[in-house]
Amino acid sequence: MLRRTQYGKVWNMLNTQPSLLHPYDSGATRMGMPPPSSVRFAHAPTVSASLGEPLRFEDGRELHLRSIGPTDVAALKRCFHRLSPEDVRRRFLHAMSELPEPMAQRLCRIDPSIETAYVLMDESTKPAEMCGVGRIYVDESAGSAEFSVLIEQDWTRLGLGALLLQRLVDDCRARGLTEIWGYVLVENRPMLQLCKELGFTRRLAIDEPGTAQISLQL
Ligand SMILES: CC(C)(COP(=O)(O)OP(=O)(O)OC[C@H]1O[C@@H](n2cnc3c(N)ncnc32)[C@H](O)[C@@H]1OP(=O)(O)O)[C@@H](O)C(=O)NCCC(=O)NCCS
Repeated sequence: MLRRTQYGKVWNMLNTQPSLLHPYDSGATRMGMPPPSSVRFAHAPTVSASLGEPLRFEDGRELHLRSIGPTDVAALKRCFHRLSPEDVRRRFLHAMSELPEPMAQRLCRIDPSIETAYVLMDESTKPAEMCGVGRIYVDESAGSAEFSVLIEQDWTRLGLGALLLQRLVDDCRARGLTEIWGYVLVENRPMLQLCKELGFTRRLAIDEPGTAQISLQL
């Protein structure tokens, strides 16, 4: 079934099973207000097809959401080169002019027992381009996971950051973790606002000046 989200930003191919739909998607409204980003997306089917889960936008563009894999190294490096210095600093918390090959390899070869990484791929080009990444790294002893999210500029303000972060939250819950957390620069208002909408709380990171530690108890 093709469904339109309440804000009309992204169209999702959704499983029609009612149990997979969020209450807001069944027509419920908050006193006539649109739902917050955190609930704008219904749960979609598990990523299974080779291209991943299709996400369609009102302007006709389409992305596919799937897990990252070892063959994504080149796309990840191209994505890094398209980022502004500011986005690089916000994602990695410091300036980086290059994504070193060993790091790119490492980021694409995850250990599924302690890591999840989703990518948003634009398959309309050859080769396909990576437009977003969301990942968690689990600390089993602490029962928590650190997350990071990145959406390339051309694809921002479409609800994709919220979508990826919500998927990571769901993944942490499925793993039985009690907390998901991340470091965010205090100047990074978009990310802090996004996290606030999803119910995260923030405190100053004592060991990292200029950085907030945001977390969500699960
Ligand atoms: C922060 C980032 C992930 C947001 O991604 P996005 O796909 O644009 O976010 P969404 O469209 O899901 O926005 C969800 C909400 O976040 C807030 N938000 C997002 N971008 C914002 C902006 N530029 N200004 C103010 N609020 C913003 C809004 O409340 C928004 O809801 P709204 O669109 O209904 O107003 C993206 O800008 C990015 O990748 N930045 C660089 C890397 C980074 O900062 N990563 C975080 C470190 S882990």
